[in-house]
Amino acid sequence: MAEPLEVTLCMGSSCFARGNNLLLADLEDVIARNAWRDRVRLAGCRCLNLCGGGPNLKIDGRLRQNLDIAAVGELLGGLLAAPGAAGSERTR
Ligand code: FES
Repeated sequence: MAEPLEVTLCMGSSCFARGNNLLLADLEDVIARNAWRDRVRLAGCRCLNLCGGGPNLKIDGRLRQNLDIAAVGELLGGLLAAPGAAGSERTR
């Protein structure tokens, strides 16, 4: 099984106030509803010093900015559906 996707939310004060406070709870819900607990690893980080484009998050190290839960959920769904995706059985 491939490593899970790493989703890291900036928990700095600016990103937190711009929406990551809500995005964290929504992401936990989306992960649970889609049974992605083994496929997505959720973490937080300190300010990335990119506050102006926030709220910021990284997916497998790639910066994503100003996304709402619908956009993040769609992005994760696409990444997890790809052949060889994180946590898929197809990589064996
Ligand atoms: S608070 Fe997120 S980049 Fe600064």
